[in-house]
Amino acid sequence: MTDAYQTIIIFGGTGDLAHRMLFPSLYNLYLDRLLPDDMQIIASGRGAMDDDAFRASIDLAKTLPEDHFDADEAAAFLSRIRYCPVSGEAAQFAALRDMVGDRIERGVAVYLSTPPSLFAPMVEGLGKAGLAGPTVRVAMEKPIGHDLASSRQVNDAVNAVFDEDRVFRVDHYLGKETVQNLLVLRFGNTMFEPLWSARGIEHVQITVAETVGLEGRVSYYDGVGALKDMVQNHMLQLLALVAMEPPASMAPAAVRDEKVKVIRSLRPMSPETVEALSVRGQYGSGAVGGEPVRGYADELGERSDTETFVALKAHIDNWRWAGVPFYLRTGKRMPERSSEILIQFRPVPHSIFAKKGKGLEPNTMLIRIQPQENIQLQVMAKQPGLDRHGLNLREVALDVSLSTEAAGQRRRIAYERLLLDLIEGDPTLFVRRDEVEAAWTWIDSIHQAWTEARVPARPYTAGTWGPSAAIALIERDGASWHE
Ligand code: BG6
Repeated sequence: MTDAYQTIIIFGGTGDLAHRMLFPSLYNLYLDRLLPDDMQIIASGRGAMDDDAFRASIDLAKTLPEDHFDADEAAAFLSRIRYCPVSGEAAQFAALRDMVGDRIERGVAVYLSTPPSLFAPMVEGLGKAGLAGPTVRVAMEKPIGHDLASSRQVNDAVNAVFDEDRVFRVDHYLGKETVQNLLVLRFGNTMFEPLWSARGIEHVQITVAETVGLEGRVSYYDGVGALKDMVQNHMLQLLALVAMEPPASMAPAAVRDEKVKVIRSLRPMSPETVEALSVRGQYGSGAVGGEPVRGYADELGERSDTETFVALKAHIDNWRWAGVPFYLRTGKRMPERSSEILIQFRPVPHSIFAKKGKGLEPNTMLIRIQPQENIQLQVMAKQPGLDRHGLNLREVALDVSLSTEAAGQRRRIAYERLLLDLIEGDPTLFVRRDEVEAAWTWIDSIHQAWTEARVPARPYTAGTWGPSAAIALIERDGASWHE
């Protein structure tokens, strides 16, 4: 632990993310003795408050599973947290600098869990207060801008104070266990890689379905929509991990270099192609899990053209993936919460089996990220029994559970991995500036094409898998969404 930074400052410390994710994650790391012994945690928010009042506002008993909460440990953990109000004034940044004191030499990780409009002023304030030297690194949550031009502005403002190697852009999907497992699955085994290209794979599906709706995030979500909220970041990160070339090593630059090449190879969409390659949707009223729910416009209180669902057919223009569609879909108010990647292999070139009973199905690999964590490989096998007039076939699943529970461990919050890497200075699972900007370049092409071609958000009933056009998008190609 010699390299671990010994102070973490959380801006937006009174916010929802900090309370639901960041402090519980830090507590878990503390409980597992993964934080430096004298780690100092400073929370910062706009309002004035003393340390005790802030500590009392953190309800770990509520956010953590019962068997993981220990009142004595929680009290010891909370006693490390100090509070410093910062709403932007120079004197407040100076007070924060004083609170850090000469511990700055032992490293300070600053986590910006604030609205993105504050990234630039916060970073500037840190710089002016002398809290941005070589022993300080900064992490920030998405979204980094709302298009390429605005993301460049944010990145320029941040890089004016922090060199890129001290900037850690958070995409919490990269902290999920199964997402990291993708790297091991692909590059820790020999048997998949020879098939992992247009030669062996017919298409790929990436689905991130949520049952939740707006959840009180009206002011953020409306006008942003599913493309920018989910595809620009989480889904493109998943796509990059599935499609990247083998990196030469696990060195952060090696991994991130390969990811950015994939994102840069995504074929832009145009007003002429966008309607055949994408579907926008917005949920109306319906029922999820047996409970009636309101439609988006009703929750919002007015009509809106924001999409809460998007389905895309993406192409990666390189040698490995030429001609292989990557179907992406994400939506709110879907029938179930599931994030998964389906790899559909090509069919056998010629079937030697009589067409009796179940025919030959192409192999698939289903990588489940949540709520389950497992990998299922569907293969063909013989029906047991004395077949007559040819063999009877059936599909069977080779099922590998990747769950931490199955390994006898607690399921971790994705932020635990990311906070630990931030403190220890490993940027592999964080998003580099060129990745963010390449992702925005592709997203902008879609957004612009939607605007120019006036592609509407089609209604779908809450609790269904999106507009019927999304089903047609994939069925036109003779495939179907995995459900
Ligand atoms: C966030 C989005 O980045 O990811 C939310 O802003 C979304 O709209 C969330 O609900 C999904 O994350 P998870 O981990 O619950 O799949």
